[in-house]
Amino acid sequence: MSTSPLIIIAIDGGAASGKSSTSRLLAERFNLLHVDTGSFYRQITFELLRRGVAYSDLPAVKAALAHVQLTTRLNGRSAQMLIDGQPAGDEIRSQQVNEHVSHYAAIPEVRSALLAYQRGQVNVAKQYHFRGLVMEGRDIGSVIFPQADFRFFLHADPIERAKRRAAEGRQDSIAERDRLDTTRKNAPLVVPAGATDIDSTFLTLEQVVEKLATLITAKLP
Ligand code: CDP
Ligand code: CDP
Repeated sequence: MSTSPLIIIAIDGGAASGKSSTSRLLAERFNLLHVDTGSFYRQITFELLRRGVAYSDLPAVKAALAHVQLTTRLNGRSAQMLIDGQPAGDEIRSQQVNEHVSHYAAIPEVRSALLAYQRGQVNVAKQYHFRGLVMEGRDIGSVIFPQADFRFFLHADPIERAKRRAAEGRQDSIAERDRLDTTRKNAPLVVPAGATDIDSTFLTLEQVVEKLATLITAKLP
């Protein structure tokens, strides 16, 4: 068994900048665990909405989070979070969740409930003998793994991003989520110092993946 350290790749960016598609393809190419942290925030949001816990009711949010058990199971190459043993369903991509997720994600207690869980994905990657992990979100290169081997930030023009979502046939609140995510006090969406910034507005998904894969390969032992 290899004893070489795990490769950690952090990918951050705004809504529909291409994080998930790019991360999935990199995970396949380099044998990495794929960790979509946005899906975790969406899942917690859905769970709190289901329980009728408003984001403005901080004591209720804290009380609900105090008892949730977060575990992981593998879904292909992706880490799937289970809340009290239950996986997320398609409803985490609903317009209701799109409209609420950034409000819940701005709450420090929600972020700290997920922090150790996200860092713990390194152990999941080890357990399943991946070469490393690629984690995507808003604060991966800045807060979760500031020492990651690779930190990328994906940009794309907001109009292009809205077009990409529309092409998927999905309604989204891209501009409003970006506004809330960049202006919150706790772990805002920022380009982490020293991260590689990539503008994908005029690039295809394949071109973005090639660009990142070339940078990764050049630095790998
Ligand atoms: O896929 P998309 O870029 O549209 O969003 P997502 O990655 O599924 O993230 C949904 C929301 O979760 C974001 O708008 C943020 O409010 C929050 N999020 C976060 O605060 N921190 C992360 N590391 C990932 C997501
Ligand atoms: O995860 P995030 O919300 O950042 O974006 P995504 O779900 O990976 O990408 C949104 C859509 O844009 C997907 O349908 C991608 O195939 C597409 N895309 C694209 O057309 N060109 C790119 N350079 C990147 C993504």
